[in-house]
Amino acid sequence: MPADKDAEKQIEALREKIRHHEYLYYVLDRPQISDFEFDKLVQELQQLEGEHPALITPDSPTQRVGGKPREGFFKVRHSSPMLSLDNTYNQDELSAWERRVHELTGVKGVDYVCELKLDGMSLSLGYDDGQLVRGVTRGDGTTGEDVTLNVRTVRSIPLSVPKEKLKKTGIPAYFEVRGELLMPTAAFKKLNEERESKGLPTFSNPRNFTAGTVRQLDPNITAQRPLDFFAYMLLQDGRTYFDHHSKTLEALESAGFKVNPHRKLVHSIDEVWKFIHQWEEKRDSLPYEIDGIVVKVDRTALQDELGFTGKAPRWAIAYKYSARAGITKLEGVRWQVGRTGKLTPVAELAPVSIGGTTVRNATLHNVDEIERLGAKIGDYVQVERGGDVIPKVAKVVEDKVHPRGKQEIDIPEKCPVCATRVVRTEGEVDYRCVNANCPAKLLGTVLHFASRGVMNIDGMGESLVNQLIERGLVKNVADIYDLNKKDLLGLERFADKSAQNILDEIANSKKLPLERVVYGLGIRFVGERTAQFLAEHFGSMDALANASAEQLEEVNEVGPRVAESIAEFFSNPANRKLVERLGKAGLAFKGQQKERGTKLAGKTFVLTGTLAHYTRDEAKQMLEDAGGKVAGSVSKKTDYVVAGADAGSKLDQAKELGVAVIDEGEMEKLAR
Ligand code: IVH
Repeated sequence: MPADKDAEKQIEALREKIRHHEYLYYVLDRPQISDFEFDKLVQELQQLEGEHPALITPDSPTQRVGGKPREGFFKVRHSSPMLSLDNTYNQDELSAWERRVHELTGVKGVDYVCELKLDGMSLSLGYDDGQLVRGVTRGDGTTGEDVTLNVRTVRSIPLSVPKEKLKKTGIPAYFEVRGELLMPTAAFKKLNEERESKGLPTFSNPRNFTAGTVRQLDPNITAQRPLDFFAYMLLQDGRTYFDHHSKTLEALESAGFKVNPHRKLVHSIDEVWKFIHQWEEKRDSLPYEIDGIVVKVDRTALQDELGFTGKAPRWAIAYKYSARAGITKLEGVRWQVGRTGKLTPVAELAPVSIGGTTVRNATLHNVDEIERLGAKIGDYVQVERGGDVIPKVAKVVEDKVHPRGKQEIDIPEKCPVCATRVVRTEGEVDYRCVNANCPAKLLGTVLHFASRGVMNIDGMGESLVNQLIERGLVKNVADIYDLNKKDLLGLERFADKSAQNILDEIANSKKLPLERVVYGLGIRFVGERTAQFLAEHFGSMDALANASAEQLEEVNEVGPRVAESIAEFFSNPANRKLVERLGKAGLAFKGQQKERGTKLAGKTFVLTGTLAHYTRDEAKQMLEDAGGKVAGSVSKKTDYVVAGADAGSKLDQAKELGVAVIDEGEMEKLAR
């Protein structure tokens, strides 16, 4: 059919164009067109593919994100172990390694490749006939987890390598690439802040965030987090393919993989040492974190001769940079209020230069940490910083040269921003401001309230909310319901239609059920599920607001800590007023009261396969009505896996973990 042939040609040309711009943007960091133009190309391709679905191929740029959340990950055995590296920390240790290389090979003039030691996680990519077919985590080194769907969303990873490129670079059609997956520091900071504002747990460093992201069961979540991948190994059947490591890196680069440009082929250990030094100075200028330098013997034949010791190759070594530290005086402590109301003590320091940056502030984390350090104002403290991460006070210096401080660090009784009394829940380290109207918390609170799983006010993102707050139009979430068109038209980028859209969204949110409103209040420890239990138990906002801590504890999954937090929230007059206004605005304050059974309280179930008499939702409902919990994946905490027909990987996991597997009939018996 000529029409389809035309379409096919057009589609392929468009794909090539998009791939080229993806490569320029994500691999070379040198975009030539704007994001807008790029999005237009992708939309055009989506449209064409929509009209000709038979022409969609797995390596089309539109197919990076696809598929539904998965149930778990399959284990995959590596073609050859994914090893770690031995570490060195000083010049002597590095020289000792070089001597050993000489001794074992009998070769004196050894060439080395110096690379940055990227602080991410290693990943293996499998390509069959030039197509990306597998992404596997390192796991225990021998076996990793199949994270292919997530890996496909990483834009610097090619979904396919064209035949001509393989030919030109000498890379075989079936090959494996290993490298480092990481999250750039700026993205880490931004995403962590977003999490903090939603009351979600934050990640302590980009590496953990990367690991958490690549192991997401839902590839759509991974796709929203900018991960980057640098290739540093090319294997075939588990063996190094090229005869020199430097050639491997060049070939990977020519084939379209992102290879770190900060690398060097050197001819002596002195040059290695120079490279190490240079990057110790410059490491802060990098957009991602490194924790050292990796030195590799260039010639594959020599690598093979050197072999491995236990878990690490003898042909490569890591030189680890030490944490950068400096000693300075602790002049004071101020308390910063985060978006969830959390108070963080910040050390005010006499300015000190650490690794080329002047440091004036460092985090003291929390009250427990202050106690652990035994810090007093006037003390000399050791301050450490890694990459772009906030400096921290590591210890108090106790020696004859540095006098000890005398002034105790005061823990504030009131929020430094709004002066509301602060609260420390039992068993918690952090003090918090519980005033929902505290300006410091406002942005995060409003964003949480408006977000998709909550009141679902589409379009009410950070830029709009910031403007609303700046102009004093929104001082708390109830103000959202007083906004009118004139207010919105006064803001940047708002025309009649966009203003009306927001007002419609706001009006629509009033139709959402009580549990959403409860969740939207942003009460600490009250997540989606707890909000639902609360709404069902009390049946109305009034009953919930007037419940005592004891009454609250009667609710499914509400323990003393959660009950106290809820009671605390409603005992604050400002919060009560806010809730009252939401009621007046017409939000759902009444719900369906429903008593859940307690027969299955504390029991966690996982459903898998197709049940004969229930849909998944019906089965879930039945188990939850009996007080049970239904989880998405099998873990050691799972009590029962309910297996229907064609049960998949969850059943295997249950067997592996020794979790009880029951059928539909047994589930009914338990729940009734
Ligand atoms: S080579 C057998 N090169 O460091 C060779 N690793 O501490 C091992 N890493 O698991 C990998 N940057 O995740 C290599 N340029 C680099 C690296 C690098 C970071 C990581 C890698 C490895 C860990 C070992």
